[in-house]
Amino acid sequence: MRNLFIISVSIFLMSCTKSQKAEETSVKWKASSKMEELGYHLYFETRFSGDDSISCNTCHDILNQGNGAQDTAVSEGINKQKGGRNSPTVWNAKFLSVQFWDGRAKDLAEQAKGPITNPIEMGMESHDLAINKIKKDENYIKLFKEAFPGAAQPINIDNTALAIAAFEETLTTLDTPYDKGSMSKEAAKGFEVFKEVGCTSCHSGAHFAGPKLPIGTGFYMKFPTFPNEEFEKKYQFSKDKGRFEVTGKESDKNMWRVPTLRNVAITGPYFHNGSVGDLKTAIKVMGKTQLAQDLKSEQIESIEAFLNTLTGKRPLIEEPEKL
Ligand code: HEC
Ligand code: HEC
Repeated sequence: MRNLFIISVSIFLMSCTKSQKAEETSVKWKASSKMEELGYHLYFETRFSGDDSISCNTCHDILNQGNGAQDTAVSEGINKQKGGRNSPTVWNAKFLSVQFWDGRAKDLAEQAKGPITNPIEMGMESHDLAINKIKKDENYIKLFKEAFPGAAQPINIDNTALAIAAFEETLTTLDTPYDKGSMSKEAAKGFEVFKEVGCTSCHSGAHFAGPKLPIGTGFYMKFPTFPNEEFEKKYQFSKDKGRFEVTGKESDKNMWRVPTLRNVAITGPYFHNGSVGDLKTAIKVMGKTQLAQDLKSEQIESIEAFLNTLTGKRPLIEEPEKL
């Protein structure tokens, strides 16, 4: 009996230290399929850029628990050229029913082809030229063969995009205090304010990006819904016409996909043009432009405390060895 007691106490103690350790140290990322392994290498492949300097990770840094985005207002690509939009994080992108601020790619695989031939991102003249740069690499011949067994010519742009997407599917952070039900009192109060003032009329659902919709659908809203002269002067939100640039439809002018708010506390600057640097101001702007409300500073602080709990633990990803 006594022995049993000692054994169970020591098992209890052992399990305590184990779970505490798991809290402290982040899990190391590991591929669970050949496809993910291939996608992991391709995500860091700089040969897909015109001057061999830029990979997906340049603008969506996930190394050492990076935030998966660029910290500048708009992103900088090949030859230090600047684009017109802020780079969103790749963490949890798999949960969005369309990709890009304006939803111009229906899913992660379609999205992944864009940057390679974008003249100001990775700057390759064509996908064929990009594929030619890695086609004779023994390591890739092996990796593609393993990921696409039976394919006659496995190394092509479609398979490249599928593999990158498979890797991105693993980039989720669902272990937040919000998900675990361990929010502080302050944050829980903030969640109530977030709902009361109406943020959830757009930022609803499991990822605060709107209702769950079939992939390729997109949940769009007008931004700004209530244009404001002062903000317009300062941040020029209306300059970029958003979804209109894709469809050319009048009704799509200044329509934008409702973004996820997961990890929002660590992915500033904010909005499609990265014009707002801090989260408090972003909350204030949303109150005014989307809800026609002047939020009080206590409300803003409260909402911020809630949004802070949506920061998830990111697995530790190390740079792959150069192939
Ligand atoms: C030069 C910087 C740059 C590079 C390189 C780059 N991206 Fe992006 N990425 C961006 C920007 C900027 C956007 C937003 C553009 C827009 O919405 O119009 C974006 C959007 C995305 C999105 C959509 C996320 C969302 O919330 O809609 C994903 C996913 C993504 N990139 C993955 C990748 C992958 C995979 C690669 C490599 C093949 C890559 N990016 C290379 C800057 C970059
Ligand atoms: C009517 C719909 C709507 C409402 C209501 C709304 N939002 Fe938004 N929110 C959007 C859209 C659309 C965007 C993307 C805007 C853009 O183009 O930059 C956005 C962007 C954001 C961003 C920036 C995200 C990023 O990654 O840059 C934050 C933060 C945010 N909303 C918080 C809130 C908060 C807090 C509230 C309530 C006070 C709120 N929103 C109410 C539609 C809405």
